Amino acid sequence: MAQHLESKGGSALPFFEENMRRGGVLDRIKIIAQPSVVAARSFQPESIDFVMIDGAHDYASVREDVRAWISKVRPGGIIAGDDANWPGVLIGTYETIPCSEVEILNSGLKMPGVNEG
Ligand SMILES: C[S@@+](CC[C@H](N)C(=O)[O-])C[C@H]1O[C@@H](n2cnc3c(N)ncnc32)[C@H](O)[C@@H]1O
Repeated sequence: MAQHLESKGGSALPFFEENMRRGGVLDRIKIIAQPSVVAARSFQPESIDFVMIDGAHDYASVREDVRAWISKVRPGGIIAGDDANWPGVLIGTYETIPCSEVEILNSGLKMPGVNEG
């Protein structure tokens, strides 16, 4: 992948565009090539139903991402992410979202009181 990125000037954007083109949805999406926290500023509060966060997985980044997007999602909407088995993802999420609002579907972790059973 590193070699491919170098051939595209170090950017993953051309790969993303190609994947969206292949999937037939490139003309239906708007790409915002900005850091996630910056991109969040262009969305009105409670204006989106769903956001998938899959950026940096360290604690501080996850916390900042969730803080930036949580107010943008309508009540009843969804903030999704992956890699909940990463400590930074888990702690950053639980620190910014009330525990009762977090649902872990499959982290690969067994957490007492969270996904045991
Ligand atoms: C875990 S990877 C996910 C990649 C992507 N979801 C995919 O499937 O190809 C994280 C990606 O987010 C980017 N990233 C990290 N921090 C970011 C931020 N604050 N804003 C936007 N993108 C970020 C990284 O450069 C990397 O490409």
